[in-house]
Amino acid sequence: MSFTQRLLVVLAAAALLLGVLMIFSYDIIKINWISFMEIQPSYRAMEHPLPVAARSIPIEGAAYIAGQGAPVNPIQSDAISVERGRVLYSITCIQCHGPNADGNGVVGGALVFPPANLTSEVVQSKPDGALFLSISNGILGADGQIHMPALNENLTVRDRWDVVNYLRTLKASATPQP
Ligand code: HEC
Repeated sequence: MSFTQRLLVVLAAAALLLGVLMIFSYDIIKINWISFMEIQPSYRAMEHPLPVAARSIPIEGAAYIAGQGAPVNPIQSDAISVERGRVLYSITCIQCHGPNADGNGVVGGALVFPPANLTSEVVQSKPDGALFLSISNGILGADGQIHMPALNENLTVRDRWDVVNYLRTLKASATPQP
């Protein structure tokens, strides 16, 4: 065999091998390799949220400074903000606090600590920033148990202010004016 012939054989063999490999890589022949993905260290959603790294600022800007008290609401309560808040409430809060925000959600009843009535004077008398912090950080009971989970990973900073603005609109319906 001449050199060229041998080279052609080698090239043909290489091309054949490549073709066979491509059958697998393009899933023409699909082999379900045994994998044990479930056997690995992992966290379930909202389990052990990682603490924010020291001296870091969220990309949305500083929402509040820890230990510096409640922040001031920067989002004007217009129709858009309230509507956004209403939708977000119906996704994130309704299961515990209920459709009327009186604390009678489907999940709420099963909790050891009943969710707060958000239309009540107790909650409504708090400043916007306090409600914002409750949503952001959750509520740690005096017994050291988490009564309400922190929802800062579920709602962006803007989202949380929208929810606060929405909660404010519930006040009137709870305390009817004479
Ligand atoms: C897993 C259930 C659960 C979800 C979801 C939940 N909450 Fe709560 N929330 C609670 C419970 C329970 C309490 C009462 C805690 C207590 O009294 O110690 C509470 C209390 C509160 C309070 C009163 C805190 C205060 O400062 O007096 C506010 C405000 C509040 N929730 C707002 C919200 C909003 C807004 C959402 C959605 C963005 C939400 N919660 C989602 C369970 C929940």
